[in-house]
Amino acid sequence: MPRYYQLKEIMREKIRSGEWKPGDLIPSERELGEQYGISRMTARQAITELVNEGLFYREQGKGTFVSRRKITQQLIHLTGFTEDMKARGQQPGTRVLSAEMRPADEAVAERLRIKPGLQIFRLHRLRLADGEPLAIEVSHISFIGCEKLLEEDLEHNSLYRLLETKYGLPLLEADQELEAGLIGSEEAQYLKVPVGSPALFTRRVTYTERNQPIEYASSVYCGNKYVFYTHMKREQ
Ligand code: GLP
Repeated sequence: MPRYYQLKEIMREKIRSGEWKPGDLIPSERELGEQYGISRMTARQAITELVNEGLFYREQGKGTFVSRRKITQQLIHLTGFTEDMKARGQQPGTRVLSAEMRPADEAVAERLRIKPGLQIFRLHRLRLADGEPLAIEVSHISFIGCEKLLEEDLEHNSLYRLLETKYGLPLLEADQELEAGLIGSEEAQYLKVPVGSPALFTRRVTYTERNQPIEYASSVYCGNKYVFYTHMKREQ
């Protein structure tokens, strides 16, 4: 395992165990380097990655601190909920609210580039982290044989993982929109927040080979628990 990765895991564990608490200043690159017998560059890489993942934040001239427990979802790599939670050292959880085959309506069909009325797999899930509800997601899935998903245990399996490993459908890219909004009454019950709390809505179309949409998902995230992170480069 590369050394920066080992250091990342060590620091993750310090957060997990509570040794480092939200708001704590973490040791400098030099101190970490000396403590673990690695170069400053290596320590910097580990810190930068945890900043990018949202576990740390930097303050100019002051140092790097442990983040408050908002969940940061990076918008750079295409990842699923389970992967995101595991990367943060949290236990992902799922409650399947419904799973069924149904005809695609106009809007869904357009996103999936299929004919309206075609049967698709619709999955309604509550997503949790360490037992705490975070988001509600409705996934519409379309591929030949998608009805086999009815037999899957989607409370204990990652949808992305199943699609990629069991069904041989690589997930290559996605388009995602983000919109601010308010939690409605049905969502409030599941997410255990008051109606009208801030919410972040996302809509994602995920593509498999040959630019073929495979999933159209709309999600509602608790606005007070989420941060979306993206790293931008100025075009030269
Ligand atoms: C994210 C996306 C969803 C996707 C899910 C897969 O939350 N917004 O579109 O369905 O990840 O997560 P998992 O692989 O944990 O089922």
